[in-house]
Amino acid sequence: MRTHYCAKVNEEHIGQEITISGWVASRRDHGGVIFIDLRDKDEVLQLVCDPADNVEAHKMAEDVRDQFVLIVTGKVRARGEGLENPNLKTGKVEIVVDKMVIENRSLPMPFELNDDKVNEEIRLKYRYLEMRTQKSYNIFKLRSDVTIATRNSLDEMGFLEIETPIMTKSTPEGARDYLVPSRVHGGEFYALPQSPQLFKQLLMVGGFDRYFQIAKCFRDEDLRADRQPEFTQIDVEMSFCDQEDVITVAEKLIYDIFSKSGFNIPSKFNKMTYNDAMEFYGSDKPDMRYNLAMVDVIDIFARCDNEIFSNIASDSKNNRIKALKVPSGDKIFSKRQMKGFEEYVRKFGASGLGYFQMKEDGLKGPLTKFFTPEDIALIIERCDLEIGDAVFFGAGDKKLVLDYMGRFRIYLAEIMDIIPKDSFEFLWVMDFPMFEVDEGKVKALHHPFTMPKLSEDGKIEYDDIEDISSIAYDIVLNGTELGGGSIRIHKEAIQAEIFKLLGIDEEEANDKFGFLLDALKFGAPPHGGFAMGLDRMIMLMAGTDSIRDVIAFPKTQKAQCLLTKAPSPVDNEQLKDLSLRVRQTPSV
Ligand code: AMO
Repeated sequence: MRTHYCAKVNEEHIGQEITISGWVASRRDHGGVIFIDLRDKDEVLQLVCDPADNVEAHKMAEDVRDQFVLIVTGKVRARGEGLENPNLKTGKVEIVVDKMVIENRSLPMPFELNDDKVNEEIRLKYRYLEMRTQKSYNIFKLRSDVTIATRNSLDEMGFLEIETPIMTKSTPEGARDYLVPSRVHGGEFYALPQSPQLFKQLLMVGGFDRYFQIAKCFRDEDLRADRQPEFTQIDVEMSFCDQEDVITVAEKLIYDIFSKSGFNIPSKFNKMTYNDAMEFYGSDKPDMRYNLAMVDVIDIFARCDNEIFSNIASDSKNNRIKALKVPSGDKIFSKRQMKGFEEYVRKFGASGLGYFQMKEDGLKGPLTKFFTPEDIALIIERCDLEIGDAVFFGAGDKKLVLDYMGRFRIYLAEIMDIIPKDSFEFLWVMDFPMFEVDEGKVKALHHPFTMPKLSEDGKIEYDDIEDISSIAYDIVLNGTELGGGSIRIHKEAIQAEIFKLLGIDEEEANDKFGFLLDALKFGAPPHGGFAMGLDRMIMLMAGTDSIRDVIAFPKTQKAQCLLTKAPSPVDNEQLKDLSLRVRQTPSV
C-alpha cells in the first residue's frame, strides 16, 4: 500500500509519482489550499491538496480529520522558498496529491497526542494513540535495538538463549509472588517467577556453561517510578567463572549495547565496596555524576563539650557523625533554605541538622563554641573548607544517619542543579553483606543462593552475622540500580548452612528448594551471573523518568492495566473450576 516510507522521501524524488500511507497528524486549510501532515511509523510528509491541481483530491481533503488513515498517491515537488522545515527529514519536499483514499476514519482524539502534561490515566487508556507520537516510536525503536544488540553480543560471547518456565514454583527475590491457581490440582498454585534465578542455576548444573534470556519477571511489590509488577531482565549465568569473569562479560555486554545504540561509554567501570558506598554516599547505589561525598567527623565530635554529640560519638560502631560539604553553600543558600534542609531530613528520622559556615574570619555556626581551636582547624582541614562553603552534619544511629544524609546529598544536588544531563556514570558496588537483620529477622541482602566469603578452610565464620560478606555485586548507573549478580553457592553443605542461618529449617528448605539442593549433589559446577533491568536501562538511555514510558502496555502505580481493565473479576463458573471462592468483593 506504499511505494515509500515517508522518511525515505527527499529531493532525489522530485518529479516522481509515489504512494505513501499513514495517519493525519494535522490538517490546515489555507484559504482553499489544504495542507495535511501525513505521518507513518516515524516521519511526517506534507501533502498539498490544491483545487487548481486536482478538484477530486481537494474535495476529499475537506472531509479529512486528524488521525484518519490515508493512502495517497501524488508527485513529489520542492517546497517553495522559505517554506522548508529543517526539523523534518522530508522538510524540503511535499506531495501534490493526485489520488487519496480514506482507508479509515477516526473519532476526535481524546487528548492532545504530543502534550506530555496530559493526565496519564487517559494516555494509558488509549495507549495505542500515544504510540503514534515520535517520542514513543523512538523509545520502542531504541528498546528493539537494545534487545538485538544484547542477543548479538551474548551470542558472540558463546551464550545460549534458553527459555525458562513462567508457571513455576516460588523463587525468593524478596517480593510477594503472583500466583496462578491450578485447575487440575485444586487448591494448588503455580507462582510466576520473580526471576529465572533457580532455573538458570539448574542450567549450569545441566552443563550448558553459558546461558542468557530476555526474561519476563513478576513481582508483587510496592510500585515506584522505576518499578513495574511485570518487567524484563537481561538474565545471564555462566560456569567455571569467578567474579572478575562475570564482570568482564557484563562490561562487554553493556559496552556493546550502549555503543550499538549510539551512546559513548567507557569499556570498564569503577568499583567501590558496599561499605564505602554507604559511608561516603549513604546509599548502595550512589550517583557518581557529582561528588558531594560525606566525611567522617565522629572522632572530632567525641572531644567536643556538647554532651549530646559526645555521647553519640562514644559508640562509633553503632553511631555515625557525618559531614557534607557544600562548596559555596554559605553564599548560595538563604537562612530560610537552611531551615528547609532541616525539615527535609526530619522527614527521614533525623532529630536535626547541624551546620557550619566558612566565613572570612573562620568557621562560624551555633556549635563552634563546643570545639577547641585545634578541633575547629581539624574540621576545616578534614572537610577541605574554603571561604563561602557550608558544611552540614548529621549525628545519630548509623543506619538512620547514612540514610538521611544520603538522601540529603541527592536533594542538594537536585536543587543546586549540578547533575549533568547527558552523562552515564557506571559503578560496580562490590562485597555486599550476605545478611541484614531487620526487626530481629535475618534476611539475605541479595538472595540466599549467593556465595558468602569463606574462611581459608572453606567455612562460614563470624562474630556478628551482619559482618559476613558475600561475593555479590551491583551495577549502578546514575544512581539507579541497573542490575545485580553474584557467584552462587555450588556446594550443598554451604547452601544448607545458609538456609539454617536464615532460619529456614530442613523441612522448609526441602519443601521449597529441595530440587536445587538435590541438583547441588550431582556435580554442580562453580557458577555465577547477573541480571539487568531492561526497562530501567531503556529509561536511562531515553532520559525519561517513568518506567511506564518504556513498556508498551504498562500497569499503573496500582498495578492495573487501564487499557484492558486488568485485573478484573471472573465468573463463578471459572472460580469453581479452579476450586476457589472469593471472600471479598473486588473493589472496582
Ligand atoms: P535483582 O532482584 O537485583 O536480581 O533484579 C535485577 C534487576 O532487575 C530490575 N528490577 C526491576 N525492574 C523493574 N521493576 C521491578 N519491579 C524490578 N525489580 C528488579 C533491576 C534490578 O537491578 N536473580 C537476580 C539476579 C542475579 O543474581 O543474577 C535478580 O533478580 O534493574
